[in-house]
Amino acid sequence: MSSTSPFRTAIVPAAGLGTRFLPTTKAVPKELLPVVDTPGIELVATEAAEAGASRLVIVTSPGKDAVAQYFRPQPELEQTLAERGKDHLLAKVRRAPELLQVETAIQDKALGLGHAVGCAEGNLTGEDDAVAVLLPDDLVLPRGVLTRMAEVRAQYGGSVLCAFDIPREEISAYGVFDVREIGEQDVKRVVGMVEKPKADQAPSTFAAAGRYLLDRAVFEALKRITPGAGGELQLTDAIALLIAEGHPVHVVVHRGGRHDLGNPGGFLRAAVDFALEDPEYGPDLRQWLEGRIGTA
Ligand code: G1P
Repeated sequence: MSSTSPFRTAIVPAAGLGTRFLPTTKAVPKELLPVVDTPGIELVATEAAEAGASRLVIVTSPGKDAVAQYFRPQPELEQTLAERGKDHLLAKVRRAPELLQVETAIQDKALGLGHAVGCAEGNLTGEDDAVAVLLPDDLVLPRGVLTRMAEVRAQYGGSVLCAFDIPREEISAYGVFDVREIGEQDVKRVVGMVEKPKADQAPSTFAAAGRYLLDRAVFEALKRITPGAGGELQLTDAIALLIAEGHPVHVVVHRGGRHDLGNPGGFLRAAVDFALEDPEYGPDLRQWLEGRIGTA
């Protein structure tokens, strides 16, 4: 185990109904909706693999088998593409199955994010001293914050989360950190955490942004929490419990961009952002958008 890669397992909670994408999510899990041509969950799996994960545990619900299926090889399709000389497409099709080893855990009741993460405990082995949790609704850009978080865990131990500095009027949608300076530009010590506080009661404007590197101790804490914000078992409350019991928790304040793939408005922004950078679709889309907006 290298000092900058203290985890090998990444957990991706993907059991939700995707109600904000109905009616599409009657048939297609929201995690498979394409950002240009690649499902959001592949972008998140790529990030986990780049940061050193070799195993992805997708927490899913009955009826969402397509999410794990996406990571399985498709030999017939690969053969057809190979016979037709479509090497570029073949590489795309093989990409997800080659990223990391994918397993599933089933969450059969929607009891909250803390409960979803707890469902993955049975997939862990003795080697998993820490796990990464990546929320597939959140794209954190540029990629690489998990690698920095792993460095911070190697230095301070305990758990490390990613924070964004959010305008106070938006803070009540997030888990919010109470932080202390430790003389580092991008790292702060966390002395408390609260899920979805009212704006005037939030301990700071530093919010959890869907990337967690959690000491295994979190699974014991998850068994001791009771329903919190929204009546759900909150991951935030398990982390707050760890902090209260003296477990070290730090945040890496990420100054990059982010997209929220969890609703159509945020998803469209991400798709346009990625498409504008795409050599095949970007130039044409830019020209069309300029005309479309100019004449709106
Ligand atoms: C979840 C977490 C919250 C975090 C947010 C980031 O909330 O509970 O602490 O800040 O993700 O996107 P949700 O967006 O699922 O309500």
